[in-house]
Amino acid sequence: MWPYPKVLAHRGGGKLAPENTLAALACGLSYGFHAVEFDVMLARDGVPVVMHDPFLGRTVPGSGNVYDYDAAELVAMDAGSWFAPRFRDEKVPLYTQFVDSCREHNIWMNVEIKPAPGFEVATGRAVATLTRAMFGLQIAADDPLQLPLFSSFSFEALEAAALAAPDIPRALLVDEPPRDWVRQAAALGAVAIHANHKRLTPQFAREARDAGLGLFCYTVNDPVRAREILDWGVDAFCTDRIDLIGPDFVR
Ligand code: G3P
Ligand code: MG
Repeated sequence: MWPYPKVLAHRGGGKLAPENTLAALACGLSYGFHAVEFDVMLARDGVPVVMHDPFLGRTVPGSGNVYDYDAAELVAMDAGSWFAPRFRDEKVPLYTQFVDSCREHNIWMNVEIKPAPGFEVATGRAVATLTRAMFGLQIAADDPLQLPLFSSFSFEALEAAALAAPDIPRALLVDEPPRDWVRQAAALGAVAIHANHKRLTPQFAREARDAGLGLFCYTVNDPVRAREILDWGVDAFCTDRIDLIGPDFVR
């Protein structure tokens, strides 16, 4: 049900490097991580970029929305200084650039499609179309480990991704699970449910297993909690504390 790695570095390198940057990937790798989660949204010109917030200000100096800028402008922006001065040369990565770097280093990807409000369908479609073009050979190989896994809090984005790239697997991402989450996952042809570990219960874990879905949790930073949810049947999780919870963590 979950053919993928068990522990993922959240946003590339967790809390040890500026999130969603190439430096984060390098940091994760230095801790032995060959599996990451990261966030993707659209620039003004429809080009996917790797960023978490739909606005500037927290990780990138400036103001306004990410969709107020073209990708060429965003990739020139400083995405590292907020974290530490030595990361001042880190820029906002293009999605294609981030994927290339993951593939170069044999890093498996959970691509979180994170549309700005109002851009759900456009984002799901654009990310999926680009991914399909980049992974043509791997789709033909029919090996799940060679393909990324899409996830999103947006049903509409995943629906659009499924239409544009039916061969790239999807996971429904939830915080407070909607009552009909099993139905939603089935409607999307999802292979997994990605849940907030803070809202997880043993019963939810059983329901996921009974529905034939993989169960992934975010974002687990305490090894004791990680062991507990693995005991409940969780297949995998992402962590910010890549220094405390390694890629080979077992309960
Ligand atoms: O994909 C899991 C997790 O990253 C979802 O929350 O806000 O950290 O992107 P967030
Ligand atoms: Mg995320």
